[in-house]
Amino acid sequence: MNAPMLQGQALNAPAWVKNAKLLAWVADMAALCKPEAIHWCDGSQEEYQRLCQQLVDAGTFRKLDEAKRPNSFLALSDPGDVARVEDRTFICSEKQEDAGPTNHWKAPAEMRATLQPLFDGCMRGRTMYVVPFSMGPLGSPIAHIGIELSDSPYVAVNMKIMTRMGKAVYEVLGAEGDFVPCVHTVGAPLEAGQKDVAWPCNTTKYIVHYPETREIWSYGSGYGGNALLGKKCFALRIASTMGKAEGWLAEHMLILGVTSPEGKKYHVAAAFPSACGKTNFSMLVPPAGMDGWKVTTIGDDIAWIKPGADGRLYAINPEAGYFGVAPGTNLLTNPNCMHSLDRDVIFTNVALTDDGDVWWEGMEQDVPGKALPAHLTDWQGRDWTPEIAKATGAKAAHPNSRFTVAATNNPALDPAWDDPKGVAIDAFIFGGRRSTTVPLVTEARNWIEGVYAAATMGSETTAAAAGQQGVVRRDPFAMLPFAGYNMSDYFQHWLDLGKKLEASGAALPKTYTTNWFRKGEDGKFVWPGYGENMRVLKWIIERVEGRQGGESHLTGTSPAYADLDWSGLDFSAAQFDTVTQTDPAAWKRELQLHAELFDQLKQRLPQELDATRRQLSEQLG
Ligand code: GTP
Ligand code: SPV
Ligand code: MN
Repeated sequence: MNAPMLQGQALNAPAWVKNAKLLAWVADMAALCKPEAIHWCDGSQEEYQRLCQQLVDAGTFRKLDEAKRPNSFLALSDPGDVARVEDRTFICSEKQEDAGPTNHWKAPAEMRATLQPLFDGCMRGRTMYVVPFSMGPLGSPIAHIGIELSDSPYVAVNMKIMTRMGKAVYEVLGAEGDFVPCVHTVGAPLEAGQKDVAWPCNTTKYIVHYPETREIWSYGSGYGGNALLGKKCFALRIASTMGKAEGWLAEHMLILGVTSPEGKKYHVAAAFPSACGKTNFSMLVPPAGMDGWKVTTIGDDIAWIKPGADGRLYAINPEAGYFGVAPGTNLLTNPNCMHSLDRDVIFTNVALTDDGDVWWEGMEQDVPGKALPAHLTDWQGRDWTPEIAKATGAKAAHPNSRFTVAATNNPALDPAWDDPKGVAIDAFIFGGRRSTTVPLVTEARNWIEGVYAAATMGSETTAAAAGQQGVVRRDPFAMLPFAGYNMSDYFQHWLDLGKKLEASGAALPKTYTTNWFRKGEDGKFVWPGYGENMRVLKWIIERVEGRQGGESHLTGTSPAYADLDWSGLDFSAAQFDTVTQTDPAAWKRELQLHAELFDQLKQRLPQELDATRRQLSEQLG
């Protein structure tokens, strides 16, 4: 009768943990994973500092120079644990069709049988951290609670920055509340007397989701989306299945506020694949000549979007911090981001300067003629000099090196970023990384064609996931690695939502596709990008306001040269042509790739999408 209390005592659960389901689950997981101790995180600043010091003592963290980078740390991972592992990511629904052809699938019973022996004793010699977190403002009707059990203190401190983590979560959870259970292990038990390594992990990796029972099990990696389970595993894969069931959307989107010189404010949500510019766009600083415009950040990676009573779509950022790509970030490309990183940062896999600060490729490019550092310690702890780099091509920072920092460090943070109601979305943008074919910006003619454009989006792969870089693959809605259910059903969900909102008489947000990444014959990006993307955003906002022109073409409406504001930028009509022209031969090939995607997804593919494809093909002739 007193079982939960007895378990609570055995587990050393603090008095503020009263949830019976949670206590029973932690007891079960402790019995399985066999940690040496259990630490119930309270989320306090004191706890954060203590765990960081412990990570320094263990050699996982190096404290950076206190004057140059106050309260900041550098972690160098195992060279085999540097990115998400899509090949090892599984959606274990009862039926394979519910995971769909784009997800790796195993029957839940089979996967449980595989994981059971791996998790048995997996935390031996380590502490199990109980990490309570809220995705979304604490107590908001849109928010959801998760509890991550992890044997990685690196995960615990990252979760403190990335989510609303701590004791207050238990108050919201109460005795009866529900949570998403997330179990994580680096998969490196320590036998008696065995010395630990700086970055424990396992060559075997499993990132497993059971959508029907809403559980996450992660084995063998300590890195990013593999290990910080609130992010891609919960806020995208599990949340997308919740949204499908409940009529909302969980998307791989930044959310920004944009204020016009007249003081009108709009909100835009934009889906770009991993390492394709979400963080940058969400913190955009308008270029000289466009000073009246202002961009503020609500979120940089994930959006939860729900229809409001007024028929508009309201978006919240479920996260509380940024886990962003370091290389390429500098005071010119993203000054707001650079200032966010002034203090209180965890860096992972960037290079260390000889004076105890950080460095990455691209950091030198903000001042013309600024020299490369003469010597660095690279992300694998090796010597790096410009000469070595020239001779071997070695990168000082890993291309997927990242920073973890609280949203509140961002000077461009939107005042409504934490508003439980969310912000009303005026436009959606979908943007791939394509060196050819896809124009700078296109407005879809209607919701269905917008869904079509997003569904057929292609993008060159980046270092954010393990595997080959730079190959074009279809990445529908930038959600290929993140949809927790059948991609065709996901398209249907978007179409259904549009129909429902239209039926209620609401004006749907306009939808756009963008491509900042067209290359010239010299292999260089033609579009200057970054802050200059404001020119495209301005055109979008003026289209939303109904006061901007454009030219109609195969897939929608794009600006003519004269439709963009060029003040302060020298960009010729010929250059503009290079980033906007639609070549019929290239589009024939492109539509062939759409057909291949639809063939893969044919089982439940909404017929509107295939009809749109056929129409486009006929138009091309
Ligand atoms: P995830 O966190 O992986 O989801 O990525 P993200 O979409 O937030 O990508 P992020 O903004 O961190 O950008 C990744 C890389 O793209 C960085 O190296 C940037 O320098 C580069 N990048 C961002 N915006 C632009 C742009 O407008 N043009 C070009 N050429 N590169 C860009
Ligand atoms: C991405 O890969 O899209 C990321 C980084 O945002 S991770 O958290 O590792 O998934
Ligand atoms: Mn992402």
